Amino acid sequence: MSKRTIFLTTALPYANGNFHLGHIMEYIQADIWSRHQRMSGNTVHFVGADDAHGAPIMISAQKQGVTPQEYVAKISAGRSQYLDAFLIKFDHWHSTDSKENIKLSQEFYRRLKKAGLIYTKEIEQFYDPVQNMFLADRFIKGTCPKCGAEDQYGDSCEKCGAVYLPTELINPYSALSGTKPVLKKSKHFFFKLSDPACVEFLRKWTVGKAGDGTPHLQPEVIAKTDEWLSEDSQLNDWDISRDAPYFGIEIPDEPGKYFYVWLDAPIGYLASLMSYCEKKNIDFTALLESATTEQIHIIGKDIVYFHTLFWPAMLKFTGKPFRTPEHVWVHGFVTLDGRKMSKSRGHILDPLVYVDLKMDPEWLRYYFAFKMNSNVEDLDFTKSDFLQRINSDLVGKYVNIASRAAGFLVKRFGGKVSGSAINESALIGEIKKQAPYIQECYNGREYGKALRKVIELTDKTNEYIDEEKPWDLAKQEGSEVKLQNVCSIALEAFRLLTLYLKPVLPRTAQRVEEFLGCGELNWSGVDRSLDSSTTVLPFKHLMARVTQEQLDQLYAISAEKSKPIQPDKEKDTEKPENTEMVFEPVAPNISFDDFSKVDMRVAKIIDCKKVEKSRKLLQLTVDMGEGKTRNIFSGIATFYKPEDLIGKLTVIVANLEPRKMMGSFSEGMLLSASDGSDNHGAGLFILEPGKGAKPGMKLH
Ligand code: MSP
Ligand code: ZN
Repeated sequence: MSKRTIFLTTALPYANGNFHLGHIMEYIQADIWSRHQRMSGNTVHFVGADDAHGAPIMISAQKQGVTPQEYVAKISAGRSQYLDAFLIKFDHWHSTDSKENIKLSQEFYRRLKKAGLIYTKEIEQFYDPVQNMFLADRFIKGTCPKCGAEDQYGDSCEKCGAVYLPTELINPYSALSGTKPVLKKSKHFFFKLSDPACVEFLRKWTVGKAGDGTPHLQPEVIAKTDEWLSEDSQLNDWDISRDAPYFGIEIPDEPGKYFYVWLDAPIGYLASLMSYCEKKNIDFTALLESATTEQIHIIGKDIVYFHTLFWPAMLKFTGKPFRTPEHVWVHGFVTLDGRKMSKSRGHILDPLVYVDLKMDPEWLRYYFAFKMNSNVEDLDFTKSDFLQRINSDLVGKYVNIASRAAGFLVKRFGGKVSGSAINESALIGEIKKQAPYIQECYNGREYGKALRKVIELTDKTNEYIDEEKPWDLAKQEGSEVKLQNVCSIALEAFRLLTLYLKPVLPRTAQRVEEFLGCGELNWSGVDRSLDSSTTVLPFKHLMARVTQEQLDQLYAISAEKSKPIQPDKEKDTEKPENTEMVFEPVAPNISFDDFSKVDMRVAKIIDCKKVEKSRKLLQLTVDMGEGKTRNIFSGIATFYKPEDLIGKLTVIVANLEPRKMMGSFSEGMLLSASDGSDNHGAGLFILEPGKGAKPGMKLH
């Protein structure tokens, strides 16, 4: 087969936060694929970048009193450390706030304009008269027009899920200044996605195939694009401009107008490639124009619209040397123990904590890979499953082969391998026979399938060792040849299994290459074997087991770290002056069924203490007559001293999902009364039942 040349990217992470587990999962998926391709002799240019622009980043920078450039530079400086730690090997990491991206984005714009696909239109939007800026939906808040929930974002309600326009919010206010926004007109630039030529192109491209006959998109993704492109759903034109002040790229000859971040973000893929080509002396234009180059983007399921409609259309109508992607491959989201990760609930695993705890990156790579396939499926990190998978598969089965076989060979035969035994071995023949299948699995991103096959072969190898019993042979006189043969076969099996695992476990593979003295393992190495010229070195430790404590720590520290006490929030934990009572409007009616879902109980406060590092929280131990106590955190420390509460009866919500806080769970919610003002201005009061009530009694 002819060799492939692949330009590979992963989505560009916003530069307003550190990597989270979802990012690392995406990079591991791409990295395994890229390593596999290289082991097949193909060329891969795997590049990434920070997505630097946009209003949120500008505002975060403002809050910290630094320029957006300084803000982004700080995030960007922390990237390589964590990529390296997880053995993720990008060839280049760049930024969308770069000279290459400015040049390319302006070029795209000029050409799209020339192609008649850009037009302008006056639109009316909310404007913050204090901050002097137009407000993106997420910076407008107000009361949900559907359910009446307060403090909802400008596009959708977190309480009831309703989707609406910011102008529909009741009592809208600017999340930046708190003032009431005004409606203001301004000229915006639009990309004409609805243009018949555009729609026609997209209808073809989305169901089209790459040069090798494989579809551009996965079936589930095509189902989506079909829906978007169907006869009766009009594609909306795309608003690609934002008014100053904005952190972004200026629109040529249009002072005060900037490209919307999502216009220049995917162009950032090309900017990174361009900068990489410059560094490596590769001809950027020739590389892109070559018929044999493949352009492949790996992304998450939330950004499919941008990558399967806008991006291919932009590329198509900008024209040469730019090319439409061969593939956009979409993955699902990482969930944690069956639930969506949530920073505010502390339900989160922080990959940075994983690294700081010096946990083995290959554990995570293997675990993710084992669960990965080519579908758009969510992938759950399950604590118990992780422990079991690593300790049983990797340490118990795979590493074990080497430790069982290498010792005898080194001690008894000076590390000399018996080549003829290997050539005649049925086991080795069987393992080699599976190489094409495993390669195909890697190539098709069916890593789970590949690894299940490898583990099956690992089991077979261990069975072989169990049957041949080298430890018995070592004791029997006259069994030297047999012993050397068995150990040689086991080690050749180990070499092949290591080769098969190498895209996932590059570091272990490198150690094995050294210890077997077999040179760099790649797919062509399946046709070779260890032979009599091989001298195996003494077995060195390859991989440790994961411990329960490590995992517990990973969870606890991640949860704590996700909820830092923010300096500006600390101020409002001071007990406020008593002010006039503000009557809060009564919430909309609910059904009796809704009400009866909430289980409220009388509980006795047995113990109560202040929570270190938090000025707001008290930790209570309550008894509600169920034969064990419950731990509850409550944000009332500025209103009550612990000693005032101990011994009191009060009321708690007993069936709220336990919530991880300060490293342990809050198993209920203390009820208290306060008025409708900010910061409980008129005070906050816990509830006490009438005389005679007993812990455990239910409120009806
Ligand atoms: N900046 C845009 C992408 C621009 S690409 C030209 C963006 N950034 S992001 O930081 O929010 O997301 C980066 C990638 O991480 C996306 O592919 C996104 O789908 C992925 N993930 C975000 N959360 C995730 C999980 N919980 N699980 C898996 N991937 C997740 O979107
Ligand atoms: Zn609502």
